[in-house]
Amino acid sequence: MLILVTGGAGYIGSHTVKALRQAGHSPLVLDDFSSGRRAVVEDTLRVPFVEGRVGDGALVRSLLTGDHPACAGQRVEAVIHFAGRSIVGESWQRPAEYYGSNVSEALSLLQAVVEVGAAAASGPAPFIFSSSCAVYGLPRTLTLTEDHPLEPINPYGRSKRMVEELIRDLALAHGLPSIILRYFNAAGADPDGEIGEVHDPETHLIPRVLDAMTGRSPFLQIFGDDFDTPDGTGIRDYTHVCDLAEAHLLAVNRLLLRRAAPAADGAPVPFRTLVYNLGTGQGASVQEVIEAAKAVTGRGLLAHVAPRRGGDPPRLVACADRARGELGWEPRRSDLPTILADAWRWHQALPGR
Ligand SMILES: NC(=O)c1ccc[n+]([C@@H]2O[C@H](COP(=O)([O-])OP(=O)(O)OC[C@H]3O[C@@H](n4cnc5c(N)ncnc54)[C@H](O)[C@@H]3O)[C@@H](O)[C@H]2O)c1
Repeated sequence: MLILVTGGAGYIGSHTVKALRQAGHSPLVLDDFSSGRRAVVEDTLRVPFVEGRVGDGALVRSLLTGDHPACAGQRVEAVIHFAGRSIVGESWQRPAEYYGSNVSEALSLLQAVVEVGAAAASGPAPFIFSSSCAVYGLPRTLTLTEDHPLEPINPYGRSKRMVEELIRDLALAHGLPSIILRYFNAAGADPDGEIGEVHDPETHLIPRVLDAMTGRSPFLQIFGDDFDTPDGTGIRDYTHVCDLAEAHLLAVNRLLLRRAAPAADGAPVPFRTLVYNLGTGQGASVQEVIEAAKAVTGRGLLAHVAPRRGGDPPRLVACADRARGELGWEPRRSDLPTILADAWRWHQALPGR
């Protein structure tokens, strides 16, 4: 089955592309390579890809209908939308770029999906969206369920909430089968060592810890050690990127089963968008991540404590019971030692590490 994966050259997208292919699907990547790398799709994964932007309506339509040569005559049967900008600090400096890329381009993609779907006997292609725990804002409860109020506190989180709203409304109006997946902290790398995390700048904790261990960074900055947590450092929910990839496969399958053809009079059947948190429910503090990394790598690091960053909550941990119950999702590699061992293997293979 041909599945359009926007942002498939990026971190989570590339692991999902690999998982889709292993499950017998045919992923087709649309990526502008603004943060993802062409070599990942061209040389490493060797999957069909098109260089372009999600907001290019004509290009996207030609992909959805199967008219583009990269489709080899097949129609796209599901869309997984990873592409976007995702650095919180940058979203404060360049909000227009964030709303443009994350919201306007997503709307253009969604419009194309429903328009192409309106002309198809089976209706719009199932749509899966990468959202984030950033939509919740400051947690009011110890673990976050999907019903927690959506009160994002930065432009990045607001852009994700806006797209969630667009999806819900289009699903009701046009019968768009859709799932919103809210990730917490993606971590780790492909256990085969083929692909992994490369962000520039790197803002995620685990690669920054490993950089400080290999000497690529002189030291690790810890933002705050006076939070209301057992060791004073911030707690986050680290989920292995391969477990996230697996959730996308389950989401595609669920939507294909629930997809309803338009009614006899051609009217779309409203779809209530499904929303799932993806996390382990087991938070780890910065200090615990450092200790686990020391145990896995056998190396030490220099750490400096810096002031807290504005808007960093002490603890962000998912309740993912709904994903477990309804999707049958079970994280298998999301314990810290496995995450760190996989990340370390990948990190060591990177040039300059
Ligand atoms: N990494 C995390 O921990 C995390 C957590 C929550 C949510 N998310 C969301 O998951 C998605 C993927 O995250 P990631 O860490 O893999 O990011 P990434 O930066 O590694 O990947 C994003 C990909 O999208 C491409 N891209 C960006 N804008 C595009 C556009 N307009 N048109 C075409 N391609 C475009 C980039 O080149 C890149 O390949 C993002 O939407 C992000 O907001 C990530």
